[in-house]
Amino acid sequence: MEKQDYSEEYLKTLNIPEHVAVIMDGNGRWAEAKGEPRTYGHTVGSEVVEEMVEIASDLGIKFFTVYAFSTENWKRSEGEVSVLFFLFSVYLKKLIDKSKKNNVRCRIIGDKTMLDDELNAVIDELEDSTKDNTGLTFLIAINYGGRDEITRAVKKVFGEVKKGDLSIDDITEDVLTDHLDTKDIPDPDLLIRTGGEQRISNFLLWQCAYSEFYYCDTCWPDFDRDELIKAVEWYNKRDRRFGGVK
Ligand code: FPP
Repeated sequence: MEKQDYSEEYLKTLNIPEHVAVIMDGNGRWAEAKGEPRTYGHTVGSEVVEEMVEIASDLGIKFFTVYAFSTENWKRSEGEVSVLFFLFSVYLKKLIDKSKKNNVRCRIIGDKTMLDDELNAVIDELEDSTKDNTGLTFLIAINYGGRDEITRAVKKVFGEVKKGDLSIDDITEDVLTDHLDTKDIPDPDLLIRTGGEQRISNFLLWQCAYSEFYYCDTCWPDFDRDELIKAVEWYNKRDRRFGGVK
């Protein structure tokens, strides 16, 4: 894509979505097209994640969520899974210091019980050391599945009913929302999927009920600031009615 020269004045005219979520697809294909192993795409992809957090924050996005590993991604080869988890570990450790400097609050969503103790310790340190930061909130979905998240939320709610802390009549959408991994996080306004596919792939199923979906052919390792602004420009043309009539 030809580089655009977006002026600060122009960017100020845009309605910036509060929460942007991304399905970072196309790493493997991008690498294979270059004659490289798929994991090279993930390595470059993790560098793009790092850049995007800063770019999203500069643009005024308040919540930024990336889909790093789904509950279905365990089906990949052992080699690919282990490279991905190596990258998560390196990246999250780096994020501890970086987020302190950038005032970024980090949260990991997904079923963490399947992650090893070492990674869980890094996650705890990252979440704890950044919890009072007031800038961008950055959510990373690891071993995340929308159906799994809803199932876990239902189990938690049922546990409270069983204990007598909650009655069935008190179960509302808000109660369910408060038992999801994304508790206290507003729903995504804009969901971006790179890599040319047009499906939700079990990502934030509950939360995306009224999100605007933007698809682009660019593979994640090539995604950049211009691409993000293009998605925001597209979002600005949407007429959000949330089921109502204007
Ligand atoms: C989908 O592309 C991508 C993934 C399953 C992994 C995403 C991970 C990263 C971008 C790197 C690490 C992330 C962090 C947060 C450090 P694919 O490989 O399925 O693409 P394909 O459709 O071309 O095969």
